[in-house]
Parts: sequence; C-alpha cells; structure tokens
Amino acid sequence: MQIIILENAEQVASGAAQWVAEVIKQKTNPVLGLATGSTPISLYKQLVEYHQKGQLSFENVTTFNLDEYHNIEAENPQSYRTFMKQNLFDHVNIDQEKTYLPTCRNDQNPRVQGLAYEEQIKNAGGVDLQILGIGANGHIGFNEPTSSLASRTRIKTLTKQTLQDNSRLFKKDEYQPTMAMTMGIATILDARYVLLMATGKNKAAAVKQMITGPVTAMCPASALQMHENAIILIDKDAASELTEQEYFQWANQEHQKINQTFGLFI
Ligand code: GLP
Repeated sequence: MQIIILENAEQVASGAAQWVAEVIKQKTNPVLGLATGSTPISLYKQLVEYHQKGQLSFENVTTFNLDEYHNIEAENPQSYRTFMKQNLFDHVNIDQEKTYLPTCRNDQNPRVQGLAYEEQIKNAGGVDLQILGIGANGHIGFNEPTSSLASRTRIKTLTKQTLQDNSRLFKKDEYQPTMAMTMGIATILDARYVLLMATGKNKAAAVKQMITGPVTAMCPASALQMHENAIILIDKDAASELTEQEYFQWANQEHQKINQTFGLFI
C-alpha cells in the first residue's frame, strides 16, 4: 500500500485527479472504475476542469461504476447514473454508451446481471484504475462488513449504518433503496491500480482498520492490503488514528522522487 497523507480534502481531490489524468493519457483505451459518494465529487470537478481547459480528453475512456441501487430507473434523481451524469459524464466528451453501471430491475435475475457485468469488464480489458471511497464501517462499493473477500458483482442488502449514513442524501419522504448491486471485493482487487480516497474524522477508524488492522471480511477495505498497487490518498483528519503517520510521510517523500523521475505508473 502506498499511503499518501495530505493536508486537506482539496489536496486529496487534486492528487487523485493527477493519477486519473495520467492513466487517461498513458493508455490507448483507458478503463476507469468509478465511485459515487461525497468524497469523489471534488475529484470529478477537477477532471471536468482539466477537460474544459483542453488538457484532458475522455474520447477513448470506458467506465465501470462500482455500484448502483437495485431496481432504480436511470432517470431517477437518486440513481448513481444520475449522480455520474451530473458530476462527470454530462460535462466531458465521454461516449455515454461506454459508461457502465451494474443495474438490476425487479424482473431481472441479479445473479445473471452480476455475471453479465463481470463479463463486460473483462471484455473491456479489465479496469486500469479503480477509484474508491470508504464507508465509516469499512465498506468499499457496497461490500458491507462480512462480504466475502472472493465476492464478485452481486446484490447486497445494505446495513443499518450505511442506510443511516446515506439518509442525508434523501429527502424526508423520498424512498431510500435498501439493496444495491455492487462489484465484489475480488472484482475490485482485479483492477490494475486501486486508488482509495478518504477525508474527515468520521473515516479515521475505518482507515486505521483498513491499513493496520487484520485482513478481515469485517472491514472489506482491509482486502486492499492484498493488492499489489493500492494507493491510499487521505487527509490529516482521516489519518488521525494512524500511529505510523511519520513513517508514511517520509516514505511518501522518497516515493515522490521516484515518481518525478519515472512517472506515476509502470
Ligand atoms: C457509499 C458508496 C461507497 C462510498 C461510501 C462513502 O455508500 N457505496 O462507494 O465510498 O458510501 O461515501 P462518502 O464519500 O459520501 O462518505
């Protein structure tokens, strides 16, 4: 794991944007794994800005989102499709036919839909860079605690904590879905690079467990310890429970020298 501790959320967003831009520029047909939630919003803002300044083209980019609510219309204001359109897709030159989310209607078999999504990712050549946030309970995507570390795209019932955490995004009498389709932990681990963003004190305990706790289904993000190229971009608040902060800062300074000479990716 490469742990990068930055001053604030703004720096986390612009750090993440640099990695994303680099993948898009380096690959002929870049495949991005995308996340929703409040954390990546400022990353998407930065990417839109790069695009508007003529510095970044999404022409050849394919995207796969981590998750989508079960049985939700794409046009629903609460769908992750709507979130992605509002925050990224509608503002850049991406071919929206090449933007995928793991959808599943009531009349569709979630197992079939899950397998089909895995197939689509494979056919696109796999994910080059997967963006992740982290839930306060350590979830990634909607892989709630106790999710199998070998899981693939499937339907999940959300925990009370996640429903509570996300309820702020729903109006008082708006229906809040309780199930979602999500890439599995093994799906996420298949990405060539994963980049997890976390900001704020409410993520500090989950971040500590992810980085220094045991690899356990109780903290799905801890599975990233098994990933060859995991980049963890966090602000000081999210890093506040880590006792190894000084070492991480030092190691990162050393890494930066290597990055400056050889670039961010292999
Ligand atoms: C949501 C999403 C995750 C996201 C997490 C944290 O439930 N399914 O992909 O990382 O919760 O969200 P936020 O960034 O708003 O804290």
